[in-house]
Amino acid sequence: MSRVDELFAAAKGAREKAYAPYSRFQVGAALIAGDGSLHTGCNVENAAFPEGVCAEAGAISAMVLAGQQSISEVLVVADAALCTPCGGCRQKLNEFAGKDMTVHVADLNGVRRSFTMDELLPAGFELEEKD
Ligand code: THU
Repeated sequence: MSRVDELFAAAKGAREKAYAPYSRFQVGAALIAGDGSLHTGCNVENAAFPEGVCAEAGAISAMVLAGQQSISEVLVVADAALCTPCGGCRQKLNEFAGKDMTVHVADLNGVRRSFTMDELLPAGFELEEKD
């Protein structure tokens, strides 16, 4: 199984755990950290709508909790034509990624498109300049 297939399977599994009773839009995310380990997240909504957490944020939290602080590849899956990470999640991903980090966007059948971090967040805000 390729790493992208592995990411897809993991993200799809995470999506099934999503708590999205308000939007009914379930999202799963899986990422590979710098040491090769895989971390997943799903969206978790709240009755106070802005308190909901995106799938990507959950995967980032799991990665940091596991002691990793860099992302080499990420995949987001939803039952949608192109569920790209929201603006806030682009900034969150950018915190732990280089400009060439790959972000795969998948529907339930597989990857639809792949982007670099820089394509999704050009001129992203950083306190320190990266390569
Ligand atoms: N959502 C994510 O979890 N990730 C994305 O990339 C886009 C949107 C969630 C937030 C909310 O729970 C639901 O999808 C509908 O916006």
